[in-house]
Amino acid sequence: MTALRLLALDGDGIGPEIMAAALAVLDAVRPQLGRAVEVERAKIGFAALKATGSTIPEPVIAAARAADGVLLGPVSHNAYPPREEGGLNPSGVLRKALDLYANIRPARTWPGLDAPARRPFDLVVMRENLEGFYADRNMHQGSGEFMPVPGVALAVRRITEDASRRIAEAAFALAETRPAQQVTAVHKANVMRLSDGLFLDTVRAVAATHPAIAYDEVLVDAAAAHLVRDPSRFEVIVTTNMFGDILSDLASELAGGLGLAGSLNAGPDHAAAQAQHGSAPDIAGRDRANPTSLILSLAMLLRHLGEPAAAARIEAALAACLARPETRTADLGGRLGTHGFTAKLTAHITGAMP
Ligand code: NAD
Ligand code: IPM
Ligand code: MN
Repeated sequence: MTALRLLALDGDGIGPEIMAAALAVLDAVRPQLGRAVEVERAKIGFAALKATGSTIPEPVIAAARAADGVLLGPVSHNAYPPREEGGLNPSGVLRKALDLYANIRPARTWPGLDAPARRPFDLVVMRENLEGFYADRNMHQGSGEFMPVPGVALAVRRITEDASRRIAEAAFALAETRPAQQVTAVHKANVMRLSDGLFLDTVRAVAATHPAIAYDEVLVDAAAAHLVRDPSRFEVIVTTNMFGDILSDLASELAGGLGLAGSLNAGPDHAAAQAQHGSAPDIAGRDRANPTSLILSLAMLLRHLGEPAAAARIEAALAACLARPETRTADLGGRLGTHGFTAKLTAHITGAMP
């Protein structure tokens, strides 16, 4: 079998620290992989801006296209210069360039780990990843926001039937693999009658072709309230881009924090593992970051690429570490730094620790 070729892009802030941790985990899990792995590295973010004048140079996009999968670090996108000066959002550009239309964001409680949620839950937010309110669409297209006259700013929210159908199909396919077999469409069609109306009509049509899956619809504001009250009422949430962005952070926080939030950007031909959280500049370079999000994202990528044994090994080691206070990072009330936690995790994976 040919080798698995991954491209690792560190990103900004805590990116290099959590990427080093994820690559150490990948190394530890090599015996569980059905093939060799080759990891190529490239720069994005401020490091790339300094070296090339762009936060996501064209050769990096080409390398991502050529790879079997991408490991994408978080970026300090908010702090970038304007696009005319090379400050593009690397995750937005890659999502668009690689047609990564599904942002799959699981959130679950972990046995033994206290969480803000009132009861255990295990859900997935299936976020449409390419449309909606997103202004910085890609490096060639202009912004989706504009000022027709000074003092008035408009943002275009694009919803299409094709994109809604694709994400709905992905949500129902996922629900078929899950215990409750349930999909909830989250929307604001009471206000955005045309755009969310189209989204909802399209999801309904897909639901009709999956009669075995329980299907319901919840307005986004009520969905936020339901999530806090009882996240276990949801199994797969399918929603538009920005609602998915916000609700996935909420669900992750209910499960214990952003440091636990894995996510996969997936499309027909490509996939990129990317932690849900940002570059956490407040703790960057201090060995304080919890690398779990990116490591869970790596496990999702490996499963997506046909390596379930390696993914399961990573998840089991994470569960073992998260279950005990002495093998947790500071964001979870533990005493381990990024390095210490990664060492415990890799020891679990390789069997050096029970
Ligand atoms: P953030 O997710 O970076 O941080 C929010 C809070 O969570 C901070 O207190 C941070 O310390 C903490 N946190 C986040 N990840 C953590 C981890 N792995 N371990 C421990 N604590 C963690 O959000 P922000 O501060 O709003 O944004 C910072 C920068 O990241 C901005 O420039 C923003 O645009 C960017 N951002 C990037 C992505 C991405 O690349 N996917 C996602 C969100 C935000
Ligand atoms: C995410 C982030 C990005 C998004 C930002 C950095 C553009 O919040 O990946 O969730 O909104 O998609
Ligand atoms: Mn986000």
